[in-house]
Amino acid sequence: MRILVTGGAGYIGSHACVELLESGHEVIVIDNLSNSKEMSLSRVKEITGHDIKFYTLDLLDKVKLNQLFSDHSIDSVIHFAGLKSVAESIVNPLAYYRNNVSGSVNLFDVMTKHNVKNLVFSSSATVYGLTDSLPLKENCPLSAENPYGRTKIMIEEILRDLHDSDNAWNIISLRYFNPVGAHASGRIGEDPSGIPNNLLPYISQVAIGKLKQLTVYGNDYATHDGTCIRDYVHVVDLAKGHISAIEKLDSHPGLVIYNLGTGNGYSVMDMLGSFERANNIAIPYTIGPRRPGDIDASYTDPGLAMSELGWQANLGIEDFCRDAWRWQQDNPNGYE
Ligand SMILES: NC(=O)c1ccc[n+]([C@@H]2O[C@H](COP(=O)([O-])OP(=O)(O)OC[C@H]3O[C@@H](n4cnc5c(N)ncnc54)[C@H](O)[C@@H]3O)[C@@H](O)[C@H]2O)c1
Repeated sequence: MRILVTGGAGYIGSHACVELLESGHEVIVIDNLSNSKEMSLSRVKEITGHDIKFYTLDLLDKVKLNQLFSDHSIDSVIHFAGLKSVAESIVNPLAYYRNNVSGSVNLFDVMTKHNVKNLVFSSSATVYGLTDSLPLKENCPLSAENPYGRTKIMIEEILRDLHDSDNAWNIISLRYFNPVGAHASGRIGEDPSGIPNNLLPYISQVAIGKLKQLTVYGNDYATHDGTCIRDYVHVVDLAKGHISAIEKLDSHPGLVIYNLGTGNGYSVMDMLGSFERANNIAIPYTIGPRRPGDIDASYTDPGLAMSELGWQANLGIEDFCRDAWRWQQDNPNGYE
């Protein structure tokens, strides 16, 4: 199949491109490179030995988007493109609504015009808000705590309306838990700009000496060691979830939603200890105050993805830590 991947130069998108190419699909990537480098795609080609068509294109540029769909016959779209920083979305909400919501509406509009009605959308576990009803299932109530999370809920709702208006659409929203790790080759991985927001890139940058120490935000949560528990999922497992989703689209599923996580929760201290053991390296850390908006624990029930998509995560905490560190060591300055 010929798959259009929006945001394919980014962290999860580049890993998905590897899996798509290795599964025999043809891949076209569009990305405005606002949070990525084209080199990620050169590395994808290097890993797979397959070519990718790449266009520097912003979803807000509907004229170019329309031209792309006129120039290529596309079977399905995987829609990763979006801004993803919670903190930035609070400071600059309009940029998030414009880029994520308006950009998505442009994409769905152009898809409709060209009769391309198969879509996999990158949603997020953030749509469950601060609930403590665990494990999280797809039918849990939604509530977002910040503009970023609200863009994901809005796009999911737009997709529901779109499907209600035209049942020819097949739409799978994948709600990712916390993507971590990197491709085992060490050639592609997460390349955060500035100080990382996420735990493993932060630990990796402490390990390599770019950051002084890790601050653990709170050790008085109601968990086994007092630090927050999250469901981390290896980015390669996550990428494979998109192959399962693309295959599922063939069975005309209508509109469906799946949580992608392992179902195992690990605390900050579990991750830190595992990184130290897997890589034989000590990570200096300090305990800081709680961060507003953090909850004790969040993890999924992965049962629906397992029964309906045939997908489950195979990689575990040691793989997360080993692969994140290999990527960091081999690419101390990311793709620069
Ligand atoms: N990484 C996570 O923790 C996480 C968790 C849940 C959901 N998600 C979602 O998954 C998707 C991919 O996340 P990621 O971690 O790979 O992020 P990323 O920033 O690495 O990738 C997103 C890509 O989209 C591109 N992009 C952004 N706006 C665009 C636009 N208007 N037009 C074209 N390209 C545009 C960026 O340049 C980037 O390459 C995002 O939608 C994100 O919200 C990510």
